[in-house]
Amino acid sequence: MANVVVVGSQWGDEGKGKIVDWLSEQADVVVRFQGGHNAGHTLVVGGNTYKLSLLPSGVVRPGKLSVIGNGVVLDPQALLDELARLAAQGVVVGPERLRIAENTPLILPLHRELDALRENATVESARIGTTKRGIGPAYEDKVGRRAIRLVDLAEPATLPGKVERLLAHHNLIRRGLGVPEVDATTLVCELNAIAPKVLPFMDRVWDLLDRARREGKKILFEGAQGALLDIDHGTYPFVTSSNTVAGAASSGSGIGPGALDYVLGITKAYTTRVGGGPFPTELTDAVGKTLGEKGREFGVVTGRARRCGWFDAVLVRQTVRTCGIHGIALTKLDVLDGFTELKVCVGYKVDGKQIDYLPAESGAQARAEPIYETMEGWQDSTAGARSWADLPAEAVKYVRRVEELIGCPVAVLSTSPERDDTILVHNPFLA
Ligand code: GDP
Ligand code: IMO
Ligand code: MG
Repeated sequence: MANVVVVGSQWGDEGKGKIVDWLSEQADVVVRFQGGHNAGHTLVVGGNTYKLSLLPSGVVRPGKLSVIGNGVVLDPQALLDELARLAAQGVVVGPERLRIAENTPLILPLHRELDALRENATVESARIGTTKRGIGPAYEDKVGRRAIRLVDLAEPATLPGKVERLLAHHNLIRRGLGVPEVDATTLVCELNAIAPKVLPFMDRVWDLLDRARREGKKILFEGAQGALLDIDHGTYPFVTSSNTVAGAASSGSGIGPGALDYVLGITKAYTTRVGGGPFPTELTDAVGKTLGEKGREFGVVTGRARRCGWFDAVLVRQTVRTCGIHGIALTKLDVLDGFTELKVCVGYKVDGKQIDYLPAESGAQARAEPIYETMEGWQDSTAGARSWADLPAEAVKYVRRVEELIGCPVAVLSTSPERDDTILVHNPFLA
């Protein structure tokens, strides 16, 4: 029995939602610990498609407790909208099935506006390409010690003072940008209006998780984004504003690191990225286009086409280490069906020098040229395969080579968007 942390090992959209939904059959509690509604997780269950942004991907399974930890930034309106969308699909999630940490900072409309204003004011080549959900500005306010947190909605007497403090900062910026200032009384009224709708979900999550752990319940921690979008370890400044590495599961939920037994890194069989920033193996040719079309690589949140490229083993080898990944779930192998040959990046050339890691400096990252190894493709289909025996020999060879290059075994293999098209090699919960 073990608690499992799921993280993305690339730039997000590796298929975390599908794998967390699949694994959650064995879990009692599923916890989101960072990010916000910038995430987009697609679950396909018996032909029904669920698109989640803020809610943990265990939420569609009855009988599982979903938890949003303090490491998340919570847009209360986005939460209510997502709950309503799910209810319309027949999944009704009330406070008995969803608990939200009282110390979770809120995303307010002013954060969303600032995110968009900043992006639009930046020259295109320097844009981060954020989801414009207010994620960055909300985390800035958390670290700046002026955020409004969920628990503050339960203390109406002290709320105006907290809002004044927040607006002293924001209205200064808004004056500089030439946009109307936010009126304190109006914002307090808006917060008081939404409070009764979200406060029933509020809980002391650190305590809840500690009790669950002591009772021997299995806890599944669900990361959003990917390790290369981590604020410290990612391709800074083209990153998101939270720690996405596995260690964040501890601080982002209030459980000690000793309770995290197994880290599963979700890894796409090729590479994609949404938004700006360096991407050494990016393919802007017909091959890249084919990967995008076959893999249906369009963002869930913004609808943007994802940039596509060959599998980069250098990056994943690095995130295996920064996240302490014990095993990977290799997804979307089926998208590689039908290629005559496949390339895998095994190193970089930067300024004439060969290296086997991602350099930390953004200019050097942009100059990194991939060194490829070419492998034979396969013509038979792997789509929907549910056992190793169903895989063509070349596909098995590809998987084995990926394991060797990243220094980590495949624990789970995914061969289609559908929940059950998944091959279990090693059960993370039995680590
Ligand atoms: P996440 O953000 O990591 O949860 O990933 P997304 O849901 O944004 O993107 C992954 C996409 O790939 C979704 O549309 C999934 O339904 C789909 N998907 C997941 N696993 C597989 C797979 O093994 N094969 C194929 N073809 N699609 C998959
Ligand atoms: P999931 O959980 C892919 C990217 C954005 C942008 C950068 C910063 O579905 O894997 P932000 O709005 O977070 O300030 O944007 O991070 N990004 C993601 N890319 N998948 C995601 O989530 C992402 N969440 C943010 O495109 O480049
Ligand atoms: Mg996604």
